[in-house]
Amino acid sequence: MEKKKIIIDTDPGIDDSLAIMLALVSPEVEVVGISIVCGNCPVDMGFENAKKVLKFMGRLDIPIYKGEKKPLKREYIDALDTHGKDGLGESFLENVPGYEKEIDAVTFMADILKREKCSVIALGPMTNLARLIEKDREAFEAIESIVSMGGCFKSYGNCSPVAEYNYWCDPDAAKTVYKAAFDADKKISMIGLDVTRKIVLTPTRLEYIMRKNEKAGDFIKKITKFYYDFHWEWEHIIGCVINDPLAVAYFLDKSICSGFESYVDIETGGISIGQSVVDEMAFYKMKSNAVVLNEVNTEKFWEMFFERITGINN
Ligand code: RIB
Ligand code: CA
Repeated sequence: MEKKKIIIDTDPGIDDSLAIMLALVSPEVEVVGISIVCGNCPVDMGFENAKKVLKFMGRLDIPIYKGEKKPLKREYIDALDTHGKDGLGESFLENVPGYEKEIDAVTFMADILKREKCSVIALGPMTNLARLIEKDREAFEAIESIVSMGGCFKSYGNCSPVAEYNYWCDPDAAKTVYKAAFDADKKISMIGLDVTRKIVLTPTRLEYIMRKNEKAGDFIKKITKFYYDFHWEWEHIIGCVINDPLAVAYFLDKSICSGFESYVDIETGGISIGQSVVDEMAFYKMKSNAVVLNEVNTEKFWEMFFERITGINN
């Protein structure tokens, strides 16, 4: 079976790192590049963290490109309180030297998307994608499919009562991307908090990974410890919600989540800034520009995640 080419647009980030790991051990896909966007951590830090993950996975053949350093309009607000001072759970893993590229992430995307049939899995704020639309709309429209970890439908937000971080950090970018999808008759697969909140890496699940693959388990334990503490403090759960791997898992196997087609727009100001407004009842009588996933088969996710992550052989 021909591998599907993907770009992972990401702000690594603890859960981003787990998502990258899952993609790299999935035979269905070829990661043609990783584009870094400001989000959980500043771009330069995200670039360093992506190198650390690729080094652990033995995949320093995959190019990483630095993208946008700040949101389109809003002041940049990171999430280092959640991901630690180093953006990787204060694991303070050894830096990987070099790897700088001559071109930035948006140029990379514009180049490859017009040459190759390629999808984008967006795991951070959508600033890079919004800049791509500005720079080369044809390249954006050439994207095979877009899966975005972001937003929320009926679930409460994690940055405000109604807003999820990726769309809250850069609401103008998210609005731009959903509008461009609408104009191009594309549908963005929105993997929001409604489904990702159900993906909790509990101590027992981590212990299982440790038992099956000590090296992979140890790496995951190192980068998630800080995340556990954060989740206990803020969400009073024992474990950590790993949002981003679900976006990769859904790309790999659409049966893991289910949902519905809908028109989605993003609020860019006021008290509900960053809210993904999901017009489930079609009040606005607009055609769909999204598939909103609101149900997840968690057993199916964990079966895939465990099998592939414990199979890491690096
Ligand atoms: O709200 C969760 C999302 O924001 C995840 O992608 C996390 O990594 C952060 O980017
Ligand atoms: Ca992320």
